[in-house]
Amino acid sequence: MKVGAKHYRSIWYDDAEQVVKVIDQRWLPHEFRVVDLKSRDDFAVAIRDMWVRGAPLIGATAAFGVAEEMKRDPSDASLAETWDVLHATRPTAINLRWALNEMRDILWELPEVDRANAAHKRALEISDEDVECNRQIGLHGLEIIKKIAATKKPGEAVNILTHCNAGWLATVDWGTATSPMYHAVEAGIPVHIWVDETRPRNQGAQLTAWEIDSHGVSHNLIVDNAGGHLMQHGDVDLVIVGTDRTTSHGDVCNKIGTYLKALAAKDNGIPFYVALPSPTIDWTIKDGVAEIPIEERDGDEVTKVWGKLEDGTVNHVQISPDGTTGGNPAFDVTPARLVTGLITERGVCAASRDGLAALFPERVLD
Ligand code: MRU
Repeated sequence: MKVGAKHYRSIWYDDAEQVVKVIDQRWLPHEFRVVDLKSRDDFAVAIRDMWVRGAPLIGATAAFGVAEEMKRDPSDASLAETWDVLHATRPTAINLRWALNEMRDILWELPEVDRANAAHKRALEISDEDVECNRQIGLHGLEIIKKIAATKKPGEAVNILTHCNAGWLATVDWGTATSPMYHAVEAGIPVHIWVDETRPRNQGAQLTAWEIDSHGVSHNLIVDNAGGHLMQHGDVDLVIVGTDRTTSHGDVCNKIGTYLKALAAKDNGIPFYVALPSPTIDWTIKDGVAEIPIEERDGDEVTKVWGKLEDGTVNHVQISPDGTTGGNPAFDVTPARLVTGLITERGVCAASRDGLAALFPERVLD
């Protein structure tokens, strides 16, 4: 998507400089910084410390991390160690394991001398595939928005609530939850976006608000607790969120607070859709609450808030007593029964085993 007049992806390979570049998202919206990732440690730190984040982008970054490491040392030992080091960075987003497995499965079969080129090629493909998946998600999601616009809101904006950042910054391009919104704007359908701030790291305030503002999409930033109230008063027509891992039976794990939005949407009869490329589906598990590992992050993310100070510098401020420690589960699980539908690159399906099986019949489901 565009930053100013220039088109950016969130990660890319610079052929001239022969280096992987990413947008360092820790500084947004206040500063737009692009950084180079070179060593395996650079990639691991960038994922773990959330210079890059969002399930699809985490996967793409890991793929490039393997590719760059193969240029340095293409041995079996290096491949296995790189898988382990990168896999240990963040536990919940399944795209990480998916991308690492893709890379390992291809490279393992090849002689060492061929690995660097093959890894580079596959990392580029994974990036391109993500962009295309998200474009397709946008087209399928657009149909949902079109229908609401025609039946419920002729001549008025469709009000869409989203949580966290499932935008182009969380993917390689387009975003998942935001792709239908961008496609609606392109199609001339007025939309208004309620952007949950998404405590504690405020991905909504810092990233989603920045990216949709950059594209001129009407929006308001709201506190995380406002969604239920807006729904009760008829101010939300549709919820679209992303996901870090969706089970083979349609349970959805996403940023902490998503579950509460789904409960409120159910209580108010508001459609609650989840947008995801298929690498976000964990076909090996059924029950999200029981089986998905939930990342527990540093309590300081809760007791301190990061932002721009009056003197223009960006820094943290402490918001709680010195003796209070934060508890910080980063994701929660929304059971499939609360999800109206899954928007995938192959179309929209029910959040269920049968729904997913209809779209992905090649997957083995029990
Ligand atoms: O902790 P984050 O910022 O990596 O969490 C991101 C989310 O929860 C997104 O909603 C999810 O990854 C979907 S991104 C298309």
